[in-house]
This record gives sequence, C-alpha cells and structure tokens, in this order.
Amino acid sequence: MNHQARINELTDKLNYYSYQYYQGEGSDISDFEFDQLLLELGQLEQAYPAFVREDSPTHRVGGTVSKAFESVTHRFPMLSLGNTYNAQELEDFDERVRKGLEGQTYEYICELKFDGVALAVWYENGILTRGVTRGDGVRGDDITANVKTIRTLPLKVDASHIPEGLTSFEVRGEGFMPLSSFEFLNKEKEDIGEPLLANPRNAASGTFKMQDSAVVARRKMDLYAYQFLAESPVFKTHEESLAWLQTAGFNVSPTWKKCGSIAEVIAYIQFWEEKRHELPLNTDGIVIKLNSFEQREQLGYTAKSPRWAISFKYKAEAAITTLESISYQVGRTGNITPVANLKPVLLAGTVVKRASVHNANEIERLDLRIGDSVFVEKGGEIIPKITSVDLSKRLSSFEPVHFPSHCPECDSLLVRKEGEANHYCLNEKGCPPQIKAKIEHFIQRKAMNIENIGAETIEAFYKRELVKNPADLY
Ligand code: IVH
Repeated sequence: MNHQARINELTDKLNYYSYQYYQGEGSDISDFEFDQLLLELGQLEQAYPAFVREDSPTHRVGGTVSKAFESVTHRFPMLSLGNTYNAQELEDFDERVRKGLEGQTYEYICELKFDGVALAVWYENGILTRGVTRGDGVRGDDITANVKTIRTLPLKVDASHIPEGLTSFEVRGEGFMPLSSFEFLNKEKEDIGEPLLANPRNAASGTFKMQDSAVVARRKMDLYAYQFLAESPVFKTHEESLAWLQTAGFNVSPTWKKCGSIAEVIAYIQFWEEKRHELPLNTDGIVIKLNSFEQREQLGYTAKSPRWAISFKYKAEAAITTLESISYQVGRTGNITPVANLKPVLLAGTVVKRASVHNANEIERLDLRIGDSVFVEKGGEIIPKITSVDLSKRLSSFEPVHFPSHCPECDSLLVRKEGEANHYCLNEKGCPPQIKAKIEHFIQRKAMNIENIGAETIEAFYKRELVKNPADLY
C-alpha cells in the first residue's frame, strides 16, 4: 500500500474509532492499539505532509488525541459504602454505631444517593487544579479539562471563604448528566437513527472520559458536592461542611436532612421514595452519614468502607401491565428491533407505553404472548424492559409472538447471521427507513453538517422521490 493510501486508511479508521468512543459505546480496539495507529499516522504525516487530510485526528486542539488520561494517586482513598435494603439492616447499622459510640448522643445526615460518577476535585490556593475520577479508589484518571466544563463547579474559590491557613483542600461529589441533557442527547440520536444511550449514569461516565472537552461542555454536565477533605480538620460536623460548600459556591443538593434517630432516617427514605422522581437527575437510594467528624474517627473504617456511613438502595421500580402488541423497527444498518407496546402504566414518575425487548432470543426467553400481563422494570434505564410474565393471568387464547420472516417495511427476507442475536434486512438500497436513516446520518453535525435539513425534510423529499441517497441532496 502506498503512503497516501495508508494515511487515508488510518485517518478514516481513527476517526471512526474516536466517534465510537465519543458515543460512550466503547471501542472495537484497545487504547494501546488506538495510540499505535495514531502514532503511525503522525509519523507518516510528518514524512508526507502533502497527504495530510483536513479531517486528520492529529489536528485536534492540544495536538493529542491519545486515549490515555494521566493516572494520579488520590490524596485520600475514595472508599465505597456498604449497602442496606430494608429497615432491619438499617437498624443493625444503627446498633453498631450506638455500640461504637458507647452512650454518646449522635446525629445522622441523610442525603440522596445520586446516580452518576464520583469525582474528586483538588484546589490549591483556591484554584481548581485537578479533577480526578474515582478509578480503583486509590488511583484515578486526571480529567481536569472535562471537569472544568461543569459550570456549577467554581474554578476559583474566593480567599474570603477559605479557612485561615488552608492552602489545599479537596471537594468530592457526584458528577452527573442532568436528565434534561440526557433526553436532549437521545432525541438527537433518535432523529439520526443512532442507538440510544442506555441511561444517564453510563452517559455521564462516557462523557467525562471524552477527549474533546468542547463536546463535554455542550453536554451541560453537573456536580453535586457532598464531601470536603483537607489534611487537618476544618469543620466539626458534616452539616457545617455542607453549609461551607454551599457558600463557597459549590452545588449542594438542598435535599439533605439532619436526623436524630433511625426512625427519622426511615421517614426520610419514605418521603423521597416517590418525590425523588421530580429531581433533575436519577437517584438510586440514600446515604446515611454520622454528622460529627470526631465520632466518625472513633468508629473508623473497615478494609473497604467507613463504619460511620451506609447506603440504602431503593428497589428497582416495577409495574405490571398488558402487552398489547409488538412492533418491529428497522434501524439504519437494517437491524430489526422488537418493541413491546404496552397498556400505559405509571412507573417511576412517568407513563410507560413501550418497552424494549432487544431481539428474538429475548422474545423466546420470556415466551411472550399478546395479552400477557407483564412486569416492567426501570432500573436506571430510561426505556424500561419486560422482566417476566405473570403466567397465572395467561389465557389459552393468547397468541404466541412470532418474529417476522420478512421486513415489516419493505417485505424482503430477513437474515440472521451465524452466531448473531439480531435479524437484519439486507435491502439497504430499497428499504425506506434504512434509506432515510442513512441520509439523516450523512447530514448530521458530526458528519457533513448540512444545516436546515431535518428528519421531516428528508421524509418529504423521500416521499416525493427527490432523494434516494445522500448524493441526491446535491
Ligand atoms: S459519600 C465514604 N454521598 O455512592 C463515603 N456518596 O458507594 C463516600 N454517592 O462512589 C461517599 N451520592 O459516587 C456519598 N450523597 C452521597 C452520594 C454518594 C452518590 C456515590 C459515590 C460513591 C458511592 C458510594
């Protein structure tokens, strides 16, 4: 292969892999392989500058598209929390605390358990110097440029707020993608026929690991601060530190509450069980923390987690409803996705009418019949899924579901490739949803960036037989 052809090939490959990676869908190649290809491209471009392409990935701001972030050691390890699932387990926790504190009185602070990614943010002389992911708790990735895009996170804390003599401190919190950003992003993906992001947590962790902080900035990420750390103690209680974080300019969720007993903790849990669905982000439980730092020290830590805090996980929200029909959607690449149409039911604060069923195997596994009473669950996922069927409600008249043999849109024979779960329609050039999705994919911002045309225009053009492929747009 000549040098120009290799440059072209590498440019296309790397752009494709970056794109894949940027979608938070994971990549087909390892970071190492990616970096090797990028290195090869850089060297070839230096030797043959005439062949450098406009869209070369080596042109990105900063000059590097390396997939590796610098790994840094946490100043204080980032621990995890023990989980509880019922009142009894909470009372057991409270019992351990009571014993450990030998007759002292104590208070808890209850907070919601925000469903995002834990981030540590370092400040030196009031300036944000580093933003680090949790990683394995001991070492994390330096994602400072991305963390700086969080608008609610101060880049500088005013000296007047900084406790006397303190040169460095750390703020921890949950970085998250607000539901509004998540829905906006998925709407965009739906419009161009791309696979949707599964849930805001995955979307957040994918976004914070992006190479291009300008893209991260557009996604309007946020952070709720829930912990303040410094070499020597500054505050006496967690409550005081939350108040300080708030005045210093951090985003502290106003949902926390001081509780004097485990009964009050349980009341807090009940209060938020439904109400949490009105918040701008997903939450999957609550965190209960001892308020006094001195008492925290007395209780200490196990190998993995503090003895002074615990989390409580809400049950995955489930509902039961009727399966009315199954429709089959044709994706851009011809993949056929079954979608269950349900009798509308209220689940986790929203009305659910559809659920994903993934593929034919899933229909078989669940042994679905039209008319079945089905359990739907929404474990942090936006599109709920059918988890099981209530067989006691099944009538013999209910029709089994048969995966179609032909494309619901163009009637060509569907194929299922050896070893694959998905069925495909191979009529790339004649199947309307595939054609439209391909044109939409072509004009999107990340590809040709053709403005003023949207899904509706394409639909209209296509209906009048004006466009059948991207070239017809010109
Ligand atoms: S405090 C040692 N507070 O839950 C205690 N964590 O298993 C440190 N989380 O990875 C955590 N909301 O990402 C704390 N209000 C909250 C939280 C919270 C979510 C996450 C955090 C951590 C995990 C603990």
